[in-house]
Amino acid sequence: MILQRSVCRNLNKFRNLYSFRQYSTIASTNENTLKIENIKNKLKDAPNLSEFIKLEQQKNTKIDEKDNGEVYIPPPYLRNSEITGEGRRVYVESYGCQMNFADTEVINSIMKSSGYQITDSDSNADVIFLNTCAIRENAESKIWGRLSELRAQKRKLKNGQLLVGVLGCMAERLKQKLLESEMKVDLVVGPDAYRSLPSLLSAIEDGEQQTAINVMLSADETYADIAPVRTSQNSVSAYVSIMRGCNNMCSYCIVPFTRGKERSRPVQSILEEVKQLSEQGYKEITLLGQNVNSYNYLEEEHHVENTEKRLPRDGFNTIYKSPKKGVTFTQLIDQVSLVDPEMRIRFTSPHPKDFPDDLLHLIKERPNICKSLHIPAQSGNSNVLKNMRRGYTRESYIELINTIRRVLPEATISSDFISGFCHETEEEHLDTLSLLEYVKFDHAFMFYYSLREKTHAHRTMKDDVPLDVKSKRLQQVVDTFYRVLKQNTHKEIGKKHLVLIDRISKRSDKHYIGRTDTNKKVIIPNHFKDSAEPINVGDYVLVEIEDGSEITLKGNPIMKSSIEHFQQYQHKKVMINEN
Ligand code: 5AD
Ligand code: SF4
Repeated sequence: MILQRSVCRNLNKFRNLYSFRQYSTIASTNENTLKIENIKNKLKDAPNLSEFIKLEQQKNTKIDEKDNGEVYIPPPYLRNSEITGEGRRVYVESYGCQMNFADTEVINSIMKSSGYQITDSDSNADVIFLNTCAIRENAESKIWGRLSELRAQKRKLKNGQLLVGVLGCMAERLKQKLLESEMKVDLVVGPDAYRSLPSLLSAIEDGEQQTAINVMLSADETYADIAPVRTSQNSVSAYVSIMRGCNNMCSYCIVPFTRGKERSRPVQSILEEVKQLSEQGYKEITLLGQNVNSYNYLEEEHHVENTEKRLPRDGFNTIYKSPKKGVTFTQLIDQVSLVDPEMRIRFTSPHPKDFPDDLLHLIKERPNICKSLHIPAQSGNSNVLKNMRRGYTRESYIELINTIRRVLPEATISSDFISGFCHETEEEHLDTLSLLEYVKFDHAFMFYYSLREKTHAHRTMKDDVPLDVKSKRLQQVVDTFYRVLKQNTHKEIGKKHLVLIDRISKRSDKHYIGRTDTNKKVIIPNHFKDSAEPINVGDYVLVEIEDGSEITLKGNPIMKSSIEHFQQYQHKKVMINEN
């Protein structure tokens, strides 16, 4: 039998309808029961294959007649708004920063509420999304490699059985080029357009379009009303996205182009999500944003201009006008930390310019705001910082570090570094090494410069540090960082920390991995020496550090504890039996 092209396309839908029919009979009592029952009733009279083809052919005849004034009414079993995605499995693979991992939870939520099933394996998926990163060239190379694997996977299947979408920053950067590539990408969707995913997929599946794209950036999208679907196995820590985008325009960075302008999520929706996470038993949340501490939400009652000194910090500049009204990050984290005093609060990724003293004092005052700060320096030389358009000098950065050390002497500090930026001389590079020695960072993300098209550096500067020099300088940065860190971690021996147990160690099921408030990884035995009381994932445990020779500390669990108990212990208000 020869079928019209559109009939063939809808056969795909027919297949989905039937796989849904099977799925609906095996699904028992879950939140979808009502929806499933409704659809099941509708499916009672669904056609068999030959009836289906007949109906489809009639339908096409009617479409042809539409121009003659006849209105086409789709058959009930094909109503899009009700059956989009039912029974089909979506797998989302995340690359890059934590923001992307948090976005994947939003994407999962959007897909789930459109009737898709979220799967944790690419092997049984009908739709595969790659949630991508574009920050450096090698981040994109990884995606191209993965797309080529998926193209091979598609070839093995019959056409149309697997749809592949590229989402996120690389989608936003390359746009149409991705669809025009050899990689057989079906869908391209930027970071502000995830709400359109189901309808775009539908357009492809219905055969209205062969491919689909939406890379519109938004001035106000924060996905505030979407409850993230947390697919990670980790039930201890969760991300809470509080703002999106970046206004800074550092000269090397593609982020402002792929993620758009800064916008902040309403305070109330953040507090509600945090409350829910606390009720679900999460013990740690990380507030997320491209410039998390630039958070500024304009609420009705804050429409009055605030005359007190606001951001940026003295000695720091911005290329944009800092807002004079609205709820600041300090005010937000103040409220967030009060939701559950036994839930740890972290935040990333901040900018050094947005660390006012009142934020530092709040962190000191609140035992559940972690004393671990990420302060990305990028370089230790003022001239390079100027070329990078970072808005601060080596001196003002050091002044901030000195203030932090004074207010929060126990805090750990981490940073990002870029080696071999345009025009960087050997002397300027040595200033970065000396900054590493001075600050003694506890953690660092270190890269060599990767030119990104469209950025200020691409337009105005020459990428003139040869690759071998970039690599050599990066290696020196890495070596210096680890050498200083080793001296630092040695000082941990004998210290007592409150460790939140994250998971069972992958190397030994008799050990747990946890983290200190200062974000140091600690491995401990899964039982106390002198007590049969069990230790569980999600417990706070008082731990004495016994070995600090590696990056991961080794500790001895002393007793179960809590944020409050540990604080009293630190202030010598409670004693413990330390034998
Ligand atoms: N090349 C190398 N590293 C970069 N980063 C951002 N853009 C580039 C680039 N073009 C680094 C910065 C930033 C981190 C997220 O990635 O250190 O803080
Ligand atoms: Fe990129 Fe600078 Fe914005 Fe960070 S602050 S996302 S490095 S432009």
